[in-house]
Amino acid sequence: MLIIFGASGDLTARKLVPALLNLFKGKHLPENFVVLGVSRSPMSDENFRKKVVMESEFLKKKLGKEDEAFISEFANKLFYTDIGTEYDTSYTLLANRIQHLNEEFGTANNFIFYLSTPPSLYEPIAKNLHEEGLTKEQKGWKRIIVEKPFGYDLASAKALNEGLHKYFQESQVYRIDHYLGKETVQNVLVTRFSNSIFEPVWNRRYIHHVEITNAETVGVEKRGGYYEKSGALRDMFQSHLLQVLSLIVMEPPINSDAEEIRNEKVKALKSIRIMKDEETILKNTLRGQYVASTIDGKKVKGYREEEGVNPESTTETFAAVKFFIDNWRWSDVPFYVRTGKAMPTKVTEVVIHFKTPHHDIFKSQDAYKKDNKLIIRIQPDEGILIKFGVKVPGLGFHVEQANMDFYYSDLDAAHVMDAYERLLLDAMQGDTTLYARADEVEAAWKFVDPILKCWENCPQVNTYGYSAGTWGPRNSDDLIDDSFGWRNPGDLLTDESGFCLLC
Ligand code: BG6
Repeated sequence: MLIIFGASGDLTARKLVPALLNLFKGKHLPENFVVLGVSRSPMSDENFRKKVVMESEFLKKKLGKEDEAFISEFANKLFYTDIGTEYDTSYTLLANRIQHLNEEFGTANNFIFYLSTPPSLYEPIAKNLHEEGLTKEQKGWKRIIVEKPFGYDLASAKALNEGLHKYFQESQVYRIDHYLGKETVQNVLVTRFSNSIFEPVWNRRYIHHVEITNAETVGVEKRGGYYEKSGALRDMFQSHLLQVLSLIVMEPPINSDAEEIRNEKVKALKSIRIMKDEETILKNTLRGQYVASTIDGKKVKGYREEEGVNPESTTETFAAVKFFIDNWRWSDVPFYVRTGKAMPTKVTEVVIHFKTPHHDIFKSQDAYKKDNKLIIRIQPDEGILIKFGVKVPGLGFHVEQANMDFYYSDLDAAHVMDAYERLLLDAMQGDTTLYARADEVEAAWKFVDPILKCWENCPQVNTYGYSAGTWGPRNSDDLIDDSFGWRNPGDLLTDESGFCLLC
C-alpha cells in the first residue's frame, strides 16, 4: 500500500499518479496494490479519483487511448482520507483506514509512506505514524519516501535526518532525487564500469576538465514563492547536479549492490574541496538572475516581475561553480557546473574534455578546438557523443573534428520508464540504489553551505543580470580557465549552436 501525504497537491496529480498508471499498464504492480491519498482537504474517494485520474489534465492524452474498464480498474485502486486541519494530530483514524484497506486487499502490512509535504512536516508525520505502530517492521515492511528539498542547509538537513532516524531506520528511508531515476543518469555507471575503453583514461592523466550544464527554458513559473527561498544552488545544484557529479567522479564499486554504490558516491562527494574563505568563493562561483527580454518577438518577464517574487530580489536563477576534487584520481582537474532558468534550450549534459596529445606533431592547429570530448547527454536527445580529430582530405595534415554518436532512441527498446516510475518501483522492491543516503545528502550540503552563506552575507557578491533566453551572464565564461568557455549545446546532441536569443 502506497500512502501519499500531501495527496491533494500538484506532485500527486502531475507525477505520482501518471507514474503509477504506467506501472499498472505495464503490469509491474502486484494485483493487491492500493494507494491511499492523505491530505488536509475534505474529499471522498470518488472525488479524489476524479481529481487525479478521470479529470486530471496530466492524464488527458494518455486516458484518451484507454477503455473505460481499464480506467476504472486503475482508479478503483485509489482511496482517500482527510487528516483534519493539521498533519500533526492523532493518526488513529488514519491507522484504522490503513488497517481496513490492508485487510480488504491483503497488502500484508507492507506500507510505503510517501511524504509530498514541506520538509517541516517530515518529523511530525514520522512521529505520528510511529505512535500508531505504523513504522514497526515485525509484520510486513515499512518504508518512507521523502521529497526534495532535503533541508535548507547543512544544519537543517542534519536535523531532518535526526528527526527521521528517531522513528525509522536508515534502511527504511528513501530520499528521492528524480535525476537518479533518469535512464541516462544510470547509464553513466554502465558506460564507465561495463567498458574497458573509458575507465583507463578516466583520470587526471587524460582529462583536462569536466563541464556539467543544466539549462531550462522556463523561468520560475508559478513557483516564485518557493524559489525565492531556494535559488538555483539549492534547487538544482545541491541535489540533482551533485548526484550526477558523484557518478562521474566515484571510484568503481566492488559490485552493484546499493550500499556499495552509495559508499563510493559518498566518498566522491566528501572529496570535493570545500571552499572556506570568501576570496576563493568569490573567485570560483557566479550567480545570475534573468531579466526581461524579447524572445522570438514575444516579451518575456524578468525574474523580479514573476508572481511571488520580491521586486528587489537578488535570488539566483543561474549558478556556476568551479571546484576541485581532492583525491588521487582527480587532483588538479577543474570541474565546472552551471545551472540556469530562462536559457535558450532545455538540456542537461556532461562534457569530459580530454587533454591534447602530449606531443603535438601537427603544428599550428587550434588546440582548444581539437581536444577530444566525450559528451554524455542526459536530456533531451539522450545519447553519447565522442569528438575526435580526423584528417581533412587533401594535401598536408589538416585536422578537423568528427563526431561519433550513439542515441538512446536508436535502441528501439521497450518503454523507457519515467524517473518517478522507476523510483517508485525500486522503493516497492526495496532497492535503494537510486535513492540518496543520509551521509550523501549531508556531504553535498557540506560543500554547498559555505557558498550559500557567503552569497547571503558577503557584501562583494554580485548577482549578474542576463537576458531571458541567453546562456547566463556574459562573464560566466571567465570562470573557465584558458579560453575554453562553456559548450553551449542546441536541442540535438550534435548541435553546437553557441547561439544566443538575445534581442
Ligand atoms: C526540480 C526543480 O527538482 O527539477 C525544478 O525544483 C526544475 O526547479 C526541475 O525545473 C527540473 O527537472 P527536469 O527533470 O525537468 O530536468
